[in-house]
Amino acid sequence: MSAVPTPAAEGAPRSAPLLRVSDLQVHFPIKRGLFFDRTVGHVRAVDGVSLAIDRGSTYGLVGESGCGKSTLGRAVLRLVEPTAGRVDFDGTDVASLSGESLRKMRRRMQMVFQDPMGSLDPRQDVESLLTEPLRAHGLGGGRKELADRVGQLLDAVGLPAAARRRYPHEFSGGQRQRIGIARAVALEPDLLIADEPVSALDVSVQAQVLNLLEELQERLDLTYLVIAHDLAVVRHISDVVGVMYLGSLVEQAPADALYDEPLHPYTRALMSAVPVPDPVVEQRRERILLAGDLPSPADPPSGCRFHTRCPWRQETRCDDEVPVLRELGAGHWVSCHWAEEIRDGVLAPKSAEEVAATQGVSVRAGAGALAETDALVQGVDQPIERT
Ligand SMILES: Nc1ncnc2c1ncn2[C@@H]1O[C@H](COP(=O)(O)OP(=O)(O)OP(=O)(O)O)[C@@H](O)[C@H]1O
Ligand code: SF4
Ligand SMILES: [Mg+2]
Repeated sequence: MSAVPTPAAEGAPRSAPLLRVSDLQVHFPIKRGLFFDRTVGHVRAVDGVSLAIDRGSTYGLVGESGCGKSTLGRAVLRLVEPTAGRVDFDGTDVASLSGESLRKMRRRMQMVFQDPMGSLDPRQDVESLLTEPLRAHGLGGGRKELADRVGQLLDAVGLPAAARRRYPHEFSGGQRQRIGIARAVALEPDLLIADEPVSALDVSVQAQVLNLLEELQERLDLTYLVIAHDLAVVRHISDVVGVMYLGSLVEQAPADALYDEPLHPYTRALMSAVPVPDPVVEQRRERILLAGDLPSPADPPSGCRFHTRCPWRQETRCDDEVPVLRELGAGHWVSCHWAEEIRDGVLAPKSAEEVAATQGVSVRAGAGALAETDALVQGVDQPIERT
């Protein structure tokens, strides 16, 4: 595909991150009242996230349902207005843009959604779905050019040329996601935000779609923010992984470092649920169980937000002092007061029952959280087959 001339040439130097998110907050008001809406509180969906994504790299963002991953992605695209903080794309503060400059910037940032059926208009055939974004931006030229472009896009995502006359319901889930990806790359963006791009697909199809994303990244020089529940998905395609808990990043590291030595208790709990292929090691594997459910983002716990469920919670600092993200290894950031002591085995974890008793929650309540945790880690360390 030919490169669309973009403001990139005049933007930040190539070595600078393509995307920089600084202390981003998105708080949704909670309204009540019969006649007049009163704001009675706020859901702190994203509460002070900072991250940077280098050009051509992939940032994997994981976390439990409701921790704010999608809201972060939407705020980057300015589909929701941030409450505070800043998003810089290619050296430009996205909030400073409006009108035509915002439209141009949006063209360079595209989104792939979890449910391609929901994001594709069932009444349009594939040709119309793929040419729509081009026409909306006044690109693609005449009928012949548009038809050629559709052919190129179908080829790029591994669909036959005959697919152009068919409708979304005539495709399988994996094929529909290919159409969603073709639509997202039609405008030759720089950044692709893929929000749970494979979680609705069978495992075998997931691998194919992930391979496609990797191939396209190389061919089109794309930068990715991949949001997922499944750590396996994130592990194999990410350069850097960030773990979110209740609106904040609790750990961020190069993918290998994070999987080799998770430092935050939450990440460690997630990792401990990962089945190990070696049966001897698997038998000795110790699960770190989490007590209690995910607290409400409308009323997050004081101090360290994880303290209500943390097996390593200490009497001092954890309940009343917010831990900051600190760099413990090269590019390995963690927000825990006791990360060194936990890493070095100086502090021992409590059982889920003990944590539950301290917090006055039942262990049964923890079972829900554990089911979620299991889903989150399912399949990690089982290499995704490349097809
Ligand atoms: N438009 C909105 N208005 C009010 N609250 C919202 C809105 N969008 C999201 N939220 C709330 O913000 C929090 C974060 O939601 P978000 O969808 O970002 O989480 P998520 O990590 O993507 O979860 P999932 O894995 O289930 O997709 C949730 O508590 C959600 O209910
Ligand atoms: S700061 Fe305390 S509660 Fe929070 S993760 Fe670390 S040990 Fe656990
Ligand atoms: Mg989401």
